[in-house]
Amino acid sequence: MRVTILPFVMFFMWMQGDVDSVRIVELRVGAHLAEGGDALLGCVFDLGPVALYSLKWSKDGKEFYRYMPQAVPQMRSFFVPGVVVDLNRSSLNTVALKHLTRNSSGVYQCSVYGEAPDFPTASRDKRVTVDLLPKTGPKVDGLKTEYHSGSYVDVNCTTTPSRPEAQFKWFINGRPAPSSYLLGPYLVLPTNMPHTYQAKLRLKFQALESHFEQGAMTLKCQATIPPLYLQETHYTFYDPNLRKNTTRAQKNRGEIASTTILLQWFLHLLLVIMNI
Ligand SMILES: *[C@@H]1O[C@H](CO)[C@@H](O)[C@H](O)[C@H]1NC(C)=O
Ligand SMILES: *[C@@H]1O[C@H](CO)[C@@H](O)[C@H](O)[C@H]1NC(C)=O
Ligand SMILES: *[C@@H]1O[C@H](CO)[C@@H](O)[C@H](O)[C@H]1NC(C)=O
Ligand SMILES: *[C@@H]1O[C@H](CO)[C@@H](O)[C@H](O)[C@H]1NC(C)=O
Repeated sequence: MRVTILPFVMFFMWMQGDVDSVRIVELRVGAHLAEGGDALLGCVFDLGPVALYSLKWSKDGKEFYRYMPQAVPQMRSFFVPGVVVDLNRSSLNTVALKHLTRNSSGVYQCSVYGEAPDFPTASRDKRVTVDLLPKTGPKVDGLKTEYHSGSYVDVNCTTTPSRPEAQFKWFINGRPAPSSYLLGPYLVLPTNMPHTYQAKLRLKFQALESHFEQGAMTLKCQATIPPLYLQETHYTFYDPNLRKNTTRAQKNRGEIASTTILLQWFLHLLLVIMNI
C-alpha cells in the first residue's frame, strides 16, 4: 500500500459512493493469429475517478507484462513460454508480442487495478489460437497440359502443411463444381512436421462441350483457413475446335475475375479487422 495516499483514504471513501466503477471497455485481441507473426494486444479500460495503480497481462494465468505508472521502469515483462514481449513497442494499453508460435495459443487476460485504498479491479480475457498458414497458394497435382471436349479431368488441390488444415473449393468457369465431381477431402498428417495437417480435394469429371465457354474452360481451386488465409489458383484450357472469336470475350472475363478476387479480399480483411 502506498503510504502517501493514506491521509486521503477517508476523503476518497466519502467522495466516491461507488469505487467498483472500474471496467475493461474493450479487449483488442485477435482470436486467430498467424504463426511466425507479431500481435498487438490492446486493453481499453475506464477507471472513473480512480488513478491507475497497475495493469497486468497474463496468459493461462501466468503474468507476462506489468505496467505501473509510478514504478521505474514503468513497463516490465516476465518469461512465459510462447510469449515474447517487445517492450519497445508496448505502452500503457498496448502490448506487442513477436515470434508467435503454437505455444503462444491460450487465454490472454488483461487486469487493471485502481489506486489504494480499495485497489478496485477489473479483468477480461479472450482465447487466442495461433494458426500456421500455408507457405504459398494452393497447388494442383495431376494437371495435363491440355484438355478438350471428351477429356477426363482428375486433379487434386492441396496446400503445404498448415494448422488447422485448409478447406478447399473447386470452381469450373467461376461456378462451384457439382458435388458429384468431388472426392474427399482427404486428410494427411505430415510426419516430418508435427502438429500440422494437410488436406486435399479431388476434382474428377469428363469435360464436355458444355464445360467450355467460348472454347475455354477455367478450373479454379480456392483454399481458405478462416479468417486469416484465402488464396486461389486457376488454369484456363482452350479447345481449338470450340474456340471461335473468343479473344475479346475472354479478356472481359479475366477482368471480372480479378475484380471478384479483390472484393473477396476486401471482405476478408474486414472480417480479420473485426476479429471474427
Ligand atoms: C529497444 O530500444 C532500445 C533503446 O532505444 C534499443 O537499444 C534496443 O535495441 C531496442 N530493442 C529492440 C528489440 O528493438
Ligand atoms: C512449445 O513448447 C514445447 C513444450 O514446452 C516445446 O518442446 C516446444 O519446443 C515449443 N515449441 C515452440 C515452437 O516454441
Ligand atoms: C489424388 O488423391 C487421391 C487420394 O489420395 C489419389 O488416390 C490420387 O491418385 C491423386 N491423384 C493425383 C493426380 O495426384
Ligand atoms: C468471327 O470473326 C470474323 C472476323 O472478325 C467475322 O467475320 C465472323 O462473322 C465472326 N463469327 C462469328 C460467329 O461471330
